[in-house]
Amino acid sequence: MRSVTKQTITQAFLDYCGEDTDPRLMFVLERLVSHLHDFARETGLSHAEWHKGIELLTKAGEISSPERNEFILMSDVLGLSSLVDMINSSDEATSSSVLGPFHILGAPDLAVGGDLKQDNESPTVIVSGKVTNKAGEPLDGAVLEIWQTAENGLYSNQDEAQADYNLRCRMTVGADGRYAFTTIRPAPYTVPDDGPVGELLHATGRHPWRPSHLHFIVMAAGYRTLVTEVFPDDDPWLDEDAVFGVREDLVMHYQEQTDPSAAPDGLEAADRLTDPYYSVGFDFVLAAEAQNG
Ligand code: BEZ
Ligand code: FE
Repeated sequence: MRSVTKQTITQAFLDYCGEDTDPRLMFVLERLVSHLHDFARETGLSHAEWHKGIELLTKAGEISSPERNEFILMSDVLGLSSLVDMINSSDEATSSSVLGPFHILGAPDLAVGGDLKQDNESPTVIVSGKVTNKAGEPLDGAVLEIWQTAENGLYSNQDEAQADYNLRCRMTVGADGRYAFTTIRPAPYTVPDDGPVGELLHATGRHPWRPSHLHFIVMAAGYRTLVTEVFPDDDPWLDEDAVFGVREDLVMHYQEQTDPSAAPDGLEAADRLTDPYYSVGFDFVLAAEAQNG
């Protein structure tokens, strides 16, 4: 096209694309470029504003490393990560929520009922529940990966004072689908705000806080892997998570307990209980994998 205009440039882009382009790629790209062009036309984007956006992306690239992905963080604080989670969540299964950058592979196995708290000094919390499918049938052999912050709001891989894999484990459930462990209550924390995403947050009067949460990945053969987190109902940041991760069904309650016999059936945890201790019940429901054909 020789004489492109503000109005024809979107179609010109489409005309440049080859007919053999993968149909899904073409569809997604067509929608993306249409919205981008509309965005520039609607806002009357200035050169300075365009440049600022490019600068933001450039800085995100510069600060990113294998340990820190500023682009994912940008997607998180813009609500895009959570929107994609919600679009891909099954209505009848437990909601998914952001993975975050602090998950690491290789966490040690912990038997059902085991102690994740170890020497973390804080009141004991017993977390327990079951893993089922939508029909309520327990998923024998389901595996949970669990990670959380220490009392100082830092994950083990952010804090040299913590042992490797502190407050991280992998747990395999039995035929009853039940999981349980003792731990401590994680703390709220801020997402990294010393880079361009922080600049964006500060420029828009936003804080970087996340409510405290326990992270879970729940896997079972034949079921969609669930990446999620659960949040306490009394957290001050619950209704303003910087990355929009909270869903109604992911909110739980730390129940204060003083009676050791209130521990879940069969959990030999009497020697680990503080006075008071806390209990949390949370069940996971997995959606079946989509069947082909
Ligand atoms: C997290 O929960 O670990 C997390 C999620 C998004 C951004 C930063 C941290
Ligand atoms: Fe987290």
